[in-house]
Amino acid sequence: MRLERETDGDNWEVETLLDTAFGTGRRGLPSYRLRAGVDPVPELALVARDEHAEISGTIRFWPISVGSGEYEALLLGPIAVHPTRQGEGIGAWLIREGLDRARKAGWRFVVLVGDHAYYSRFGFKRCEGVSFPPPTDPARLLWLGIDGSGASLPLGSIGRWCPESFG
Ligand SMILES: CC(C)(COP(=O)(O)OP(=O)(O)OC[C@H]1O[C@@H](n2cnc3c(N)ncnc32)[C@H](O)[C@@H]1OP(=O)(O)O)[C@@H](O)C(=O)NCCC(=O)NCCS
Repeated sequence: MRLERETDGDNWEVETLLDTAFGTGRRGLPSYRLRAGVDPVPELALVARDEHAEISGTIRFWPISVGSGEYEALLLGPIAVHPTRQGEGIGAWLIREGLDRARKAGWRFVVLVGDHAYYSRFGFKRCEGVSFPPPTDPARLLWLGIDGSGASLPLGSIGRWCPESFG
């Protein structure tokens, strides 16, 4: 198993894996409203490739705005591991590697919608005083500071990243 940057040629296989993991209705989830018309951060899109060169896991990160539009942050996900390879540590490997690359690239905050029971092992905490496109269970809205400063996620609404605001 090896981790690599996702390439354009991987897109079809990654999208198929995401459909397998989440179902084809996944694009109706609130988090997809933050992704509409915005590209994922290319250097943080990773795939786990098995010994047959097939993709067993994927992670992507999107830029978003936090603090009601004043600051940039990352939205972690989607992340998925093929059902036949779950529980082997591939998800944790993708997350740790993605977060490490994000930190080295200078990102400060990462947000996601997911199970606290899984993501707490990476340090993710529940968001307080932060809103996300509805309908989203606030208990599933999690954040992590990755720059070592100890700063809290800026309060306010989480929204779509706008090139006009952040270039
Ligand atoms: C969630 C997911 C990415 C984890 O990847 P993985 O490679 O299976 O996970 P790892 O091998 O790193 O970790 C396995 C551990 O996480 C636990 N775990 C997995 N999903 C969990 C969840 N939703 N809540 C709590 N614990 C979870 C497993 O029980 C296992 O626990 P153990 O270490 O005590 O045995 C993968 O299961 C998956 O693709 N699921 C379907 C898509 C999905 O839900 N994506 C995340 C949406 S936020």
